[in-house]
Amino acid sequence: METKILPAEAGKSLAARLIRAGEVVAFHTETVYGLGANAFSDEAVQKIYALKGRPADNPLIVHVHADYDIRTLIDGEPPYAAALRRAFLPGPLTMVYPSAGKVSKYVSCGLNTLAIRVPSSMAAQAFLRETDLPVAAPSANLSKHVSPVTAGHVFDDFNGKIPLILDGGACQGGIESTVLDCTGSIPQILREGLVTRTMIASVAGDCGVYRMKTGEKPRSPGMAYKHYSPRCETALCKTAEEALLLADAEKERGGVPVVLCESGVLPMLKGVQTLDLGDSGEEMARRLYALLRRGEREATLLIGIEPTESGGVMAGVMNRFRRAFGAQ
Ligand code: TXA
Ligand code: MG
Repeated sequence: METKILPAEAGKSLAARLIRAGEVVAFHTETVYGLGANAFSDEAVQKIYALKGRPADNPLIVHVHADYDIRTLIDGEPPYAAALRRAFLPGPLTMVYPSAGKVSKYVSCGLNTLAIRVPSSMAAQAFLRETDLPVAAPSANLSKHVSPVTAGHVFDDFNGKIPLILDGGACQGGIESTVLDCTGSIPQILREGLVTRTMIASVAGDCGVYRMKTGEKPRSPGMAYKHYSPRCETALCKTAEEALLLADAEKERGGVPVVLCESGVLPMLKGVQTLDLGDSGEEMARRLYALLRRGEREATLLIGIEPTESGGVMAGVMNRFRRAFGAQ
């Protein structure tokens, strides 16, 4: 199959036709690219799992345009959820509701909940409006690989496997949406992202963060899997000194070490190839996945130095950073 890459606006009507015909199409969002299919169709949704090699118990997020009536898909919502929708949607916040059971059973993998997201990117909105169906979509990467933030990244993972990629340019957010459980008396974050706990609490009054206990079945199954992994050896360090020792050893074995770290640490890494993550949380979120993909192409050993920034979106950045480098 030929994989076309079309500018999002020019390709949206073809994309809508393909989705209605049960095909899988990749599309731009403000967080990362998504791999979408008609959420009402069992066959179309199953194609996503097959294409990604995604475990069958990891549920998908349904994407809709800003005027889609999500009440047709869910079984009621608490008052705080309505307030959060008004405050943050369209935007990088996925809300988990009691499901009305209207979409394919393969979307939620047997859970009685449904995750819904209204992306804000113009490309995503135009595509979803043209389609006017709920579109089930995980990030458009092979399972376990680094999430894609350009059309080229999607092409690298799915060339020849899907008919169309809607190119909306580089994703400005850079890490996946915040996943928020809205089925309880207060909202609870299942996956940290660009909409932070403080932002949610300022609207909802309170906000919990779910932490998986060892041995427990995770509430957001995706969190249990190896994720965001570059395809080269990796090492995680806390300091520049540690990173330099590892880099020297790698060079001695004839390898190519590359160090990924925040801007402030770069002056301490003379003589080693480096990738600059930036210095604010937003910048690190925007750059992380593209640099991980560059790192895997250039390095035999990609060494990450944990950023020291904290607060705001750093909770989400750190979670991805640590997991990309093999930490739990
Ligand atoms: O920004 C994003 O959210 C991107 C773009 C494409 O929208 N999508 C994305 O999808 O990151 P994915 O499949 O890579 O991650 C979805 C996460 C997984 O951790 C999954 O377990 C969780 O959302 N999830 C989906 N449905 C759920 C549900 N009903 N209850 C709890 N967690 C759910
Ligand atoms: Mg993903």
